[in-house]
Amino acid sequence: MERDSLRERARSIVATADLQAKVDLAYQTARDWFQRRLDRGTGLTGPALSERPGRPARPLLLAPRDMPRRSSVGLSGRIALLHSLTHIELNAVDLTWDLVARFVDQQVPRSFFDDWVQVGLEEAKHFSMLDTRLKELGAAYGDLPAHDGLWQAAESTGHDLKARLAVIPLVLEARGLDVTPAMAEKIRSGGDEASAAILDIIYRDEKRHVAFGAKWFRFLCDRERVAPEPAFHDLVRRNFRGALKPPFNDRARSEAGLTPGFYKPLARIIG
Ligand SMILES: [Fe+2]
Ligand SMILES: [Fe+2]
Repeated sequence: MERDSLRERARSIVATADLQAKVDLAYQTARDWFQRRLDRGTGLTGPALSERPGRPARPLLLAPRDMPRRSSVGLSGRIALLHSLTHIELNAVDLTWDLVARFVDQQVPRSFFDDWVQVGLEEAKHFSMLDTRLKELGAAYGDLPAHDGLWQAAESTGHDLKARLAVIPLVLEARGLDVTPAMAEKIRSGGDEASAAILDIIYRDEKRHVAFGAKWFRFLCDRERVAPEPAFHDLVRRNFRGALKPPFNDRARSEAGLTPGFYKPLARIIG
């Protein structure tokens, strides 16, 4: 049997299809890691990492081009928005624990894993808060179709930790910083304070996720003696399809250590 380790726990979080069990295992793993009851599992060859994360039968996963237009007004519009955010957070859970499992053999300080286990815990919390909120609104995660494009970022960057950090925290999660405040504002002005408060928590946490991404991206670049900004431009062009869309939340991005020299040239050249 595979020895209990951070690698094995992270692998099994990604593989678990029951979403409550996935969340519970993420919480338990973070507790055990921070109480120093788990070792990394460096050098272990256990079961292979999942090609695709474990998922329940619903929601139906559709290619982005096949997604129906979602309502944007009234309660059904709010539910559709929260449902799509719930789906994004579930993907974030799997993407983060996949990073932990996949890159467990990297020569990095233990604090690297402290940061990403913390992120994996917070993504599980985000998913769980939104899932609960959908139920309070008389809906459930799985009621609507969800798009299947998010895991592609994991596949295209499975070979290279710098590429993974460039695309997931520094492109996708940074994009969250650009769009979340307006979403929270819209929901709040519609009178749904409880949902808006969840978005506020997510926004605050995500700023730190971007900061962890920026910190470790610079760390890896320093170690290889390469300049971080050109390395970032190159990795994003090779591993991310599509433009970086302005307007950018420059203030939140720079608070997270993501200065304009990283993203502004990509918006001009790709966009
Ligand atoms: Fe999140
Ligand atoms: Fe995040």
